[in-house]
Amino acid sequence: MERLTQKLVYFSPTQTTRKVLDAIAEGTGIPRTDELDLTRPDTGRNGTTVFNHELAIIGAPVYAGRIALDAVNRLQQIRGSQTPAILVVVYGNREFEDALVELKDIATSAGFVPLAAAAFVGEHSFATPALPIAINRPDPQDLAVARDFGRTIRAKLDGLPTPGPTSPLEVPGNIPYKERTVRTGISPVTREEPCTLCGTCADVCPTAAISVGERVETDKERCIICCACIKNCPSEARFMDDPGILKVADWLYTNFSARKEPRLFT
Ligand SMILES: Cc1cc2nc3c(=O)[nH]c(=O)nc-3n(C[C@H](O)[C@H](O)[C@H](O)COP(=O)(O)O)c2cc1C
Ligand code: SF4
Ligand code: SF4
Repeated sequence: MERLTQKLVYFSPTQTTRKVLDAIAEGTGIPRTDELDLTRPDTGRNGTTVFNHELAIIGAPVYAGRIALDAVNRLQQIRGSQTPAILVVVYGNREFEDALVELKDIATSAGFVPLAAAAFVGEHSFATPALPIAINRPDPQDLAVARDFGRTIRAKLDGLPTPGPTSPLEVPGNIPYKERTVRTGISPVTREEPCTLCGTCADVCPTAAISVGERVETDKERCIICCACIKNCPSEARFMDDPGILKVADWLYTNFSARKEPRLFT
């Protein structure tokens, strides 16, 4: 039989999902092929990526209890052919609600066979030093769980005559999924004084909402509030000033600071 390889597929504006996937892949110990990073707006990707004899590790963040919409749209660019897959959602210590079942449906209808799934916790996109919601997660403890999870899946794969599940994978979540709540017209803003016009915020923006010329301009209608620009600005010049989002961040910090652990489904 052809030697099995593995490929990471992810949408991960603030990189917590990518870190979890990376640790799972390390745990399986299966040789990797190029990653498929769906985070940046279209650049570098052309057409559909077809998977054959590979293990796909597919991950996306939870936005309002669902898979982030841009991840859903970009995941349309992958196709499996009865390809085994590990499905991962990463959420900010509140809840993952219907996101995992949504990811399972997306992957299944694209031709993947879910072998295992997980919900990990990542630093909340809205976390700040003043409101440290799940700050610095995934932490070493989470990443150790992710590596162990990878090892378990490897053992499961090794025990199968051909890669594929023995019984359909069950994950929590409701069908129909909860309604998607969309906030538009909100974006982080820039403090002009510390901003060096370095362009990093534009480079990391997953929706091309930022342009940097004589100043930083943000197209609020394109912004998905992922906060990648805030977390990556080397001058701490980007910040959120929207009262509604600040209120949500405060509510999250007050109500969802108690540590939640990763949940694994095999
Ligand atoms: C618009 C938006 C909505 C979010 N909704 C949820 C949610 O419903 N539950 C939750 O626990 N975290 C939620 N989060 C937090 C992210 O799921 C979390 O920070 C995740 O680690 C981000 O993944 P990334 O680092 O791969 O971008 C939300 C974040 C954003 C930006
Ligand atoms: S990353 Fe920060 S310093 Fe650089 S252009 Fe953007 S706002 Fe300015
Ligand atoms: S402008 Fe909006 S979409 Fe772009 S990186 Fe910043 S928060 Fe994310």
